[in-house]
Amino acid sequence: KQLLPVYDKPMIYYPLSVLMLAGIREIMLISTPQDTPRFQDLLGDGSGWGLNLSYAVQPSPDGLAQAFILGAKFLDGAPCALVLGDNIFYGAGFSELLLELVAIEMGAVSFAYYVHDPERYGVCKFADDGSPMEIQEKPQHFLSNWVLTGLYFYDDQVVDVARSIRPSARGELEITAVNQYYLEHKQLHVEKLGRGHAWLDAGTHSSLLEAAQFIYSIEQRQGLKIGCPEEVAWRMGFITTTQLEKFIHHCGRPDYAGYLRRVLETDK
Ligand code: G1P
Repeated sequence: KQLLPVYDKPMIYYPLSVLMLAGIREIMLISTPQDTPRFQDLLGDGSGWGLNLSYAVQPSPDGLAQAFILGAKFLDGAPCALVLGDNIFYGAGFSELLLELVAIEMGAVSFAYYVHDPERYGVCKFADDGSPMEIQEKPQHFLSNWVLTGLYFYDDQVVDVARSIRPSARGELEITAVNQYYLEHKQLHVEKLGRGHAWLDAGTHSSLLEAAQFIYSIEQRQGLKIGCPEEVAWRMGFITTTQLEKFIHHCGRPDYAGYLRRVLETDK
């Protein structure tokens, strides 16, 4: 489903742009046996965006935390980020926040967002001093309206933590179990994304439509794009102006090319 477009670009562009804004260029994409080759066709080796993309297949849906086991060799002891392919983030100061938090070397960082339907997510309860107190995956009883989004930063312990957890009742290695480990060891930082941020997950039919409408409204109003990897790559210095110009020249979509041309002319 991450190959579906959200308004004017594939869904995967949005979370990929988030990693890029955090300065991350070594990325492994993990998906189903059916979809992984499709992603490979779409994104290639990432060099056009100044990235180094690799791919791994998750043979069956055994949980998000399995990503660290599948990617252990790729990580090779380095700290990492995990972003879910259907999560969209947007908000003032979000890029600066990412750069600040990615620099934390110890423990784990996750992001909390206030929603009306917390039972669909990993939920976080905070103590009065704002520190995280309890985390539960899809709790049956109300715990808090704050849920953990699908973006996480981990230190070099994460592979061992993922290997140590057992499958949940739904048969998955839960990312929540990884976060619980860090919480129990007082090594989990949870950053609240306030009301000025939008966090959308495009995982259901209605949330996909909502996300598309949201992106459409903002992009139409401002004439600026959300989650445009070519623009992000250029602004982050991953690709040169010449490389972007080349992309524009070969881009088959006049509207997309026109946008990037305006970006170049305005901010060169
Ligand atoms: C997953 C995580 C959950 C998190 C959510 C964010 O849920 O398990 O903790 O809040 O992503 O999108 P799932 O997509 O597995 O239902």
